[in-house]
Amino acid sequence: MAQTITVIPGDGIGPEVTNATLAVLKAAGADLEYEEHLAGVTALKRLNDPLPEETLESIRRNKIALKGPLTTPSGTGFRSINVTIRKEFDLYANVRPVQTILPGGRYEDIDLVLIRENTEGLYVGVEHYIGLEGDPKAAAESVMIITRFGVERICRYAFDYARANGRKKVTVAHKANILKYTQGLFRDVGAEIAKEYPDIEFEDRIIDATAMMLVLDPYRFDVLVMENMFGDILSDLMAGLVGGLGFAPAANIGTDAAMFEAVHGSAPDIAGKGIANPTSLLLSGCLMLDHLGQTDVAERIRAAHAAVIAKGEARTGDMGGSCTTREFTEALVAALD
Ligand code: NAI
Ligand code: MG
Repeated sequence: MAQTITVIPGDGIGPEVTNATLAVLKAAGADLEYEEHLAGVTALKRLNDPLPEETLESIRRNKIALKGPLTTPSGTGFRSINVTIRKEFDLYANVRPVQTILPGGRYEDIDLVLIRENTEGLYVGVEHYIGLEGDPKAAAESVMIITRFGVERICRYAFDYARANGRKKVTVAHKANILKYTQGLFRDVGAEIAKEYPDIEFEDRIIDATAMMLVLDPYRFDVLVMENMFGDILSDLMAGLVGGLGFAPAANIGTDAAMFEAVHGSAPDIAGKGIANPTSLLLSGCLMLDHLGQTDVAERIRAAHAAVIAKGEARTGDMGGSCTTREFTEALVAALD
């Protein structure tokens, strides 16, 4: 029986890249049924709720979601729906592979995977203002939560992933020199877990130096694992190594459910213009197919995608081309064999 998935088109360029992704999934013969639901600003406008219960119900039922980017108001307004969904379904492992597809970039043959802890750290959103002398916002504080349980499961996930995918090395990146308790716990537990995997090389590195080394010599890394916010920041940096956010897919994996989404946001600067690069969500769709055991379909899509880009005739603006999202998608469908 075909797997039913919850599809959330999202905000901004979300519907554009979601339509493109669904067109390719369908043309490639993915064995899926689609159930569309709203979230984010679009849901707030239409249903007066940024995360309607029917959307949550659908994910609860299907346990698999493909989600376009959702706009999060900055500074004020509702809490990130992305973060809320990850928390709600305990999608603790955010897997973000970056691979060179577009030739002629800063580097060739990049093949890295960042595994970001997705439920703890500063993103638990425990923060508040402190008023002083009539100024209600004289200060603000935020709490970083790191638990042994959380670090153990994300580090085990990283090492298991390395083993299952024939990877050689896991780097735990942290800031234990300054944040001795929270980040110290992350580093120490990471080192403990590493001992269970003698076949995988292990190193721990300070996060800022890791960022510098990723830019200077990305080839020294393989799988990287880190807490939530560091992973958020470094995954954008790593996307930059392979041509930008348009190329970075992500899988949010929990024990019971999984959500697949682009690393990029709703790109309000290009929304509605029909020029977004759908690669990131499409490759997230491929991660979903891998997860569902439809690896053959995922491989066909990846091969068609790589072939279209290598040929160079159909590329979107961020790849230096002038294709619309629709033209690029048509080229992808035509390239499926
Ligand atoms: P963004 O990722 O939306 O855009 C950053 C830059 O990359 C922009 O110049 C944009 O045009 C470009 N870009 C992004 N995706 C692209 C694509 N597929 N094709 C071509 N160019 C692309 O980040 P920004 O502007 O900081 O955030 C916009 C909104 O998205 C915010 O409300 C933010 O909270 C939200 N966001 C949501 C995420 C999610 O749903 N998981 C992740 C990141 C941001
Ligand atoms: Mg981000």
